[in-house]
Amino acid sequence: MISLTQAHPATVVADALVVICQSGPDGPTPLGDVPDDVAALVSATADVLGLTGGVDEVHRLPANGLRTRSLVLTGAGEEVTPESVRRAAGAATRTLAGLGKAAVVLPDDEPATLAAVAEGALLGAYTYTRYRLKPSKDEDKAPLGEVQLLLGHRATKAENRSAERAQVLADAVHGVRDLVNTAPNDLYPAAFAETARAEAKGVKGVKVTVLDDKALAAGGYGGLAGVGKGSTRPPRLVKVAYSPSRPKASVALVGKGITFDSGGISLKPAANMDEMKSDMAGAATVLATVLAAARLSLPVAVTAWCALAENMPSGTAQRPSDVLTTYGGTTVEVLNTDAEGRLVLADALAAAVEEEPDLVVDVATLTGAQIIALGRRVAAVMGTDDARDEVVAAAAAAGESVWPMPLPEDLKEGLKSKVADLANTGERWGGTLTAGLFLAEFVGTTPWAHVDFAGPAYNVGTAYGYTPVGGTGMGVRTLLTLLESRAAL
Ligand code: BES
Ligand code: MN
Ligand code: ZN
Repeated sequence: MISLTQAHPATVVADALVVICQSGPDGPTPLGDVPDDVAALVSATADVLGLTGGVDEVHRLPANGLRTRSLVLTGAGEEVTPESVRRAAGAATRTLAGLGKAAVVLPDDEPATLAAVAEGALLGAYTYTRYRLKPSKDEDKAPLGEVQLLLGHRATKAENRSAERAQVLADAVHGVRDLVNTAPNDLYPAAFAETARAEAKGVKGVKVTVLDDKALAAGGYGGLAGVGKGSTRPPRLVKVAYSPSRPKASVALVGKGITFDSGGISLKPAANMDEMKSDMAGAATVLATVLAAARLSLPVAVTAWCALAENMPSGTAQRPSDVLTTYGGTTVEVLNTDAEGRLVLADALAAAVEEEPDLVVDVATLTGAQIIALGRRVAAVMGTDDARDEVVAAAAAAGESVWPMPLPEDLKEGLKSKVADLANTGERWGGTLTAGLFLAEFVGTTPWAHVDFAGPAYNVGTAYGYTPVGGTGMGVRTLLTLLESRAAL
């Protein structure tokens, strides 16, 4: 929970006073309206404490002379930008799990700084404890309960709105993390659909439609049906439509929702297969985004499409060489059942563009090649030029890392099938781009962007900044910022 207060750092009562520090050649500089005592303490003890103000550096000290129970110094690095303070605030609140309230000193009085600190502090205040039933360990702690931003004056309307937006955004990101972190024995397509219904309940202007396996078969959704066939838990297509009264634009968001990707008959190796519970991150992202847009009453019509299936090997599973007919009639020869994401997305994209949105964006943990190309923290964006650039610009504004990638014509050759309209895999090199080219076949002439966040959606390393281990919730900020830009046009 976030609040804005007039209180001053020297007199505010809380468990921690958080001060963001910039690092420089002469050591760390505490930013904002910090009490003289704190500034003096920082400069007098930086060297002995090893305090530099560097990125992801967090020190917790006893708070002599303050009314808070501790002083937390967190580093923003050399450059003070919205993203560096977002990250510094998140690194601090992440270490404060188990405590009640932190008061944060704002580094400056820019509106963008307030928004970033609010977001970072809330994003860092996250822990996932659903399956930890024996309390004892560090990780069991509940997240920090409350974040107070020290304004020094009465909050303006704009400042209150900014804090509210940060809260809605953080709730959305936390929702994605929760879904991604949920074990796949608990989160299967029908369970995801029920969650979508439950979360949408009471959100104004939102309507949820669920197509079950029978409806999918009857409706010609051969991609979802084919991928879902191997599992005892059948596929679903969930449509969550937010329709404001006078929309300035309409945007469709399509998410890959493989609740577990074993690879199917083209079975994955055992090592790290557990990470494939995160293969529904795209669907979770578009669900959270449409609900956040509705909660913020954005004047943009947004429809999220969650393409949900469990990819399992079994006697009923699809085989390499099976041919399926996707929604809209394109036939696909399945050469590798582990290239399943593009099959479920083909159905959902084709259905989404049928409604003629101004723009369609899909989000998917689509290829291991994305991680090879850009690493674990930078997502790839492809698509029609304008739409791709719109996503890149939104990500830059939101402080998320994405990079534009091409869709080279020559790679289309690899997607030729000996028997069907398309094959579901092509040549090995540039696998992310081939997957993008495959999806391009299903969007017709609608402006379209495709985000492959196979790496960034799930943090298999250690926590950093506002990003915890496990589901990261990356993508929500970019999509929400994109929708806000469309609303402002
Ligand atoms: N879900 C995976 C992609 C993935 C890999 C996401 C690693 C996150 C981390 C996807 O369904 C997949 O298996 N893709 C294959 C495609 C190949 C068979 C053409 C891949 O990347 O190996
Ligand atoms: Mn796969
Ligand atoms: Zn997958």
